[in-house]
Amino acid sequence: MPIATTQLGQLFYAQRGRAGSAVLCIHGAGGTHAHWGHQLRDLAAVARVYALDLPGHGRSVPPAHEQIAGYADAALALLDVLGLERATLIGHSMGGAVCLWAALHAPERVAGLGLVGSGARLRVLPELLAALEYDPPAALRQLAELSYAPDAPAALREQGLRAALASDPAACRADFLACNGFDCLARLGEIRVPTAVVVGAHDRLTPPKYARAMHAAIPGARLYDIASAGHMAMIEQPAAVSAALRTLL
Ligand code: COA
Repeated sequence: MPIATTQLGQLFYAQRGRAGSAVLCIHGAGGTHAHWGHQLRDLAAVARVYALDLPGHGRSVPPAHEQIAGYADAALALLDVLGLERATLIGHSMGGAVCLWAALHAPERVAGLGLVGSGARLRVLPELLAALEYDPPAALRQLAELSYAPDAPAALREQGLRAALASDPAACRADFLACNGFDCLARLGEIRVPTAVVVGAHDRLTPPKYARAMHAAIPGARLYDIASAGHMAMIEQPAAVSAALRTLL
């Protein structure tokens, strides 16, 4: 799988699909491109789909960033190396914040937005931020616990917990600091691209209220409520999430 040498360091990405418009999928806090495995497969029939590891995550070089802007710059630098003037940006949770930042600061690069389990303001529980510094395993366990719908299969939860415990706690803390400092609620009305807002009905980390606020404020945005899903909707209910995202392509 490919590594791109960008102005901001080496970034790992996965790619599927040979024709159609370009789509870049951006993972959330403590994640990797692997969170988008289902969508890489599902959207490849209609688009050229890319999913990156943000700096300091997976196989991309450190450092992780404590500001959303740093991650948005990295995503745009990857588009540069790939020769993509514009792409539809799809982001989960913190990745959605990265997409929103790009849409507001580099609108000419963004053809559409898919915002999954995300929000325009992402304050983080103070005790979670503290635990990420003083007791990372406990914090990562709490996060994994909050990430899935109550009736999610045990195997999915265990897989999520294993992935969380294998992630770098320092990068994860940087991500949550970046989330905590992010707020573009007042600027959503400036967005002018087709937008799909997708949320799991049982999302406890970015509750449906956040999705409804984006749906109400982004002109023309469509809202997709995913039943039987929590924060990891694209993994818990991949077909429903992929179908919602396909409407952008
Ligand atoms: N969209 C719409 N409304 C939002 C919002 C968003 N993205 N973020 C916050 N708000 C709302 C809140 O619901 C609240 O509304 P209310 O006064 O009607 O209750 C108001 O704006 C003030 O929000 P805030 O200053 O963030 O404080 P809070 O009361 O929401 O409490 C937390 C802060 C951390 C407890 C809370 O944001 C929370 O539970 N977050 C989810 C858990 C978490 O840590 N998630 C990680 C995110 S990456």
